[in-house]
Amino acid sequence: MRRHWAAFVALTGLVGLSFSQTGRQIPPGSPLPGITPFEHEMFRLGLEDFTEVETAEDGLGPAFNGNSCAVCHSVPAIGGISTMTEVRGGRRDENGKFTELNGGTLFHLFSTPPHRCQVRIPPEANVIARRAPIPLFGAGLVEAIADGTIIALEDPDDRDGDGIRGHAARITDVATRRERVGRFGWKAQHATLLGFSGDAYRNEMGITNDLFPDEMALGVDPEQLRLCSPKRGIEDVRDRRTGLRGIDNFESFMKFLAPVERGPIDESVHAGEALFTAIGCASCHVPVLVTGPNANPLFDRKPAALYSNLLLHDVGTGDGIEQSAAGAGEIRTPALWGLRFRRPLLHDGSAATPEDAILRHGVEASSVTERYRTLPHALQRQLLAFLNSL
Ligand code: HEC
Ligand code: HEC
Repeated sequence: MRRHWAAFVALTGLVGLSFSQTGRQIPPGSPLPGITPFEHEMFRLGLEDFTEVETAEDGLGPAFNGNSCAVCHSVPAIGGISTMTEVRGGRRDENGKFTELNGGTLFHLFSTPPHRCQVRIPPEANVIARRAPIPLFGAGLVEAIADGTIIALEDPDDRDGDGIRGHAARITDVATRRERVGRFGWKAQHATLLGFSGDAYRNEMGITNDLFPDEMALGVDPEQLRLCSPKRGIEDVRDRRTGLRGIDNFESFMKFLAPVERGPIDESVHAGEALFTAIGCASCHVPVLVTGPNANPLFDRKPAALYSNLLLHDVGTGDGIEQSAAGAGEIRTPALWGLRFRRPLLHDGSAATPEDAILRHGVEASSVTERYRTLPHALQRQLLAFLNSL
C-alpha cells in the first residue's frame, strides 16, 4: 500500500512540474507552479501522510469518521471531496438557545474496536445536521489572505441597503493562540491550515496531537474510552527521520496544493460571468481576493480567484448548529473555484446541481435569487455555463 502511494506521489509531482513549466493546464492535485525543490519535498511528504491509512496501533479512534484524510478528500484528485458526510447535532431550547450535548457537536460514524465505543446521538437532540467535505485546492492562497482584506468586505449593519449583511468570523487560532479571522470550514471555524489539521486529525480520525491532546467520543463514558483507546499520550509523534508531526505534513500538502484551473472559456461563459456580477452573486462570491505581503513569493500579493468573501452569511440554509463565531443560521460563503468537479453541493450535500444550489439561497440572498429567477432562459443558461467553467 505504502509503495503504491509513493509511486503515485512521485508521478503527480512530475506531472505538476512538467505542466507548469510548459505553461499548459495543470491537473487538479498538482502542487503550485514555481515551488522550490525543498517545498516540493514538503508537499510530497505531506501527500504521503495525507493518504496514509491509519490503524488503531497508530492511534485511530476510539471514535472516528475516516481512516485517512484522503478517504474524504480524493475527488477528482487527492485534496478534493467525496460523497461522505459527517453528522453534527445538539439541542435548541424553547428560547432558541443552542446547547451542546455531552460537550460537543460531532457524532462520529465509526469506532475502534468496531461497535465498542460507538457514539450515539442522545434523545434530547433536536438539531441534526450533515456536513459535506470541502476541497482543499488552493488552500495555501486562502490562508495567505490578510485578515484586514476579509474585514474590509463586512457589512453587518447593511449600510448599503442591499439586504446583504455578512461578518468576519473572529476566532482564536488554535495553532498560534492569536485573534484571527477564520476562513476554513463551513462555519469559518479555523484561520490556519495547521489549526484545521490538528482539529481534523483528532476529530475525523481520533488521533490526538499537540493542538487537540484529548480523545473525544461524545457520550461514551471515560472508562469505556480508556478500554477502546489503550494508547497513552499524544498519538501524533514527530517522525524520527524528518522531525515533523503528521499535522505539519498535512499543513504542507494543503499549503502547496494548486487551485483548480478554469475550464474552457467561450462567449457564453464570458456573458455568464458578467451576469454573475450584474445580478449580485459577486456581492458574496467575490471573484478575486489578493493575498497579503508574504515572505514567500508564492503567496506574496497573489490574486486568488476563489469567488468568495470568506464571510459568514445567512442565506436560509443554515444547519442550526452554533459553532465558533457562526450563528445557527450562518454559513461561510463557499469558494466556487473548482465547482465543475464538485457534486453534491451546499454544506450538507443536499443540492444536486448549481441551479438547485442557487434556488435554495434565501434571506440575505433573496433579492439576488429573485433576479436569477426572472432572467430569460437563455441568460440563465449563460450564468450556469459560467459556473460550470469554474
Ligand atoms: C470523514 C471525512 C473526513 C476526513 C477523514 C477528513 N476530512 Fe477534512 N473535511 C471534511 C468535512 C465534512 C469538512 C467540512 C467540515 C466542517 O466545516 O464542518 C472538511 C473540511 C476540511 C478543511 C477545510 C477546508 C476549507 O477550505 O474550508 C480542511 C483544511 C480539511 N478538511 C483538512 C483535513 C485533513 C488534514 C484531514 C486528515 C487529518 C481531513 N480533513 C480528514 C471531511 C473529512
Ligand atoms: C448573501 C451572500 C450570497 C449571495 C448573494 C449568493 N451566494 Fe451563493 N452561497 C452563499 C452561501 C453562504 C452559500 C453556502 C450555503 C450552504 O452551503 O448551505 C452559497 C452556496 C453557493 C453554491 C454552492 C457551492 C458549494 O460548494 O456547495 C453555489 C453554486 C452558489 N452559492 C452560487 C451562487 C450564485 C450563482 C449566486 C447568484 C445568483 C449566489 N450564489 C449568490 C452566499 C451567497
